[in-house]
Amino acid sequence: MFPLEFPLEILGTMAHRGDTVLDPFCGRGTTNFAARLLGLDSLGVDSSPVAVAISAAKLVTVSPEDILAEARVIINTQYTFSIPEGDFWNWAYHSDVLRALCHFRAAFLNNCTSPARIALRGIILGALHGPKQKTFPSYFSNQCPRTYAPKPAYSIRFWKERGLYPEPIDVMGVIERRAKRYYKPLPGVSGYVKLADSRNRGSLEPLEKGSLFRWVITSPPYYGMRTYIPDQWLRNWFVGGPDIVDYTNENQLAHSGAEKFSDDLKKVWKNTSLVCANDATMVIRFGGISDRRTSPIDLITKSIQNSGWKITKIVNAGSASEGKRQANAFLRTVTEPLTEYDIWTSRDL
Ligand SMILES: C[S@@+](CC[C@H](N)C(=O)[O-])C[C@H]1O[C@@H](n2cnc3c(N)ncnc32)[C@H](O)[C@@H]1O
Repeated sequence: MFPLEFPLEILGTMAHRGDTVLDPFCGRGTTNFAARLLGLDSLGVDSSPVAVAISAAKLVTVSPEDILAEARVIINTQYTFSIPEGDFWNWAYHSDVLRALCHFRAAFLNNCTSPARIALRGIILGALHGPKQKTFPSYFSNQCPRTYAPKPAYSIRFWKERGLYPEPIDVMGVIERRAKRYYKPLPGVSGYVKLADSRNRGSLEPLEKGSLFRWVITSPPYYGMRTYIPDQWLRNWFVGGPDIVDYTNENQLAHSGAEKFSDDLKKVWKNTSLVCANDATMVIRFGGISDRRTSPIDLITKSIQNSGWKITKIVNAGSASEGKRQANAFLRTVTEPLTEYDIWTSRDL
């Protein structure tokens, strides 16, 4: 996830009124949220259902009161659902909390189209796992990392060894605090989020017939980081996935070799060029992880050749170790920092 300041600064200083913004790897919708704060329409595309649900929640226009009213409607409606069983689930959530989560999950799987439901689903996804708070609880789970879902065997051991039992969290209390914190009045611009594989032709489409994007601000998976779906397996369960860790990585960029990876990226850049104006700018934040020898600059440069874009400058964006530290609720040692680059491109006409 890149910081909000990154797209906000680019768009805030360089975009014009009426410009539209695209992110073909929208993740948690940071680019789309920045566009929204500046009153610009945007489209976000991602192949992860969790990413799409979280991004969509950032783009709806709804009041905290409407979100809470919808939560009450759901609680008072009967749904048929099963509750996942086993050691992990017993240790991860208090039984009343897990039942409430399953109830909401069933409601959203049945229908999640209204702004209030989209927002509520995003709020619950954000609160699904995280550290125990000293004051008011902010998360539903037993002690967990906030950003990635705990792997069952490891976390069961962690909780057992420390005698950490899941607490009976007040689910509505958490929802209410989060709804009031996150849903302050914002510009009601058009922001769309689409579940699709950006490599496929036609997955990126203009917001309106005949209109073209002026900005693409994006960050694809870094080569070797193949764990977006397994790292989000609990949230993926909540949006309809299995109640076990899913390693299939369906519809995610291939990490089997540098060549394949850069070819995959090229497909996406070609697709973005088809929906962008001639004077559009695409900025790609990209980096590399320490256990892959391939240079991220070589890889991204190759992916851009003959893609309809040309590189205008490459800026060192510094190291990403700051952000990674947030994931350390399990006290894991931080791996080597990533060096990240911002690759600025314009259309190659
Ligand atoms: C580095 S993250 C993007 C983070 C985003 N900039 C943010 O701030 O949240 C990369 C995203 O690319 C998505 N992704 C991977 N392969 C994809 C594909 N083929 N099509 C669309 N999205 C894909 C992943 O699901 C992940 O959410």
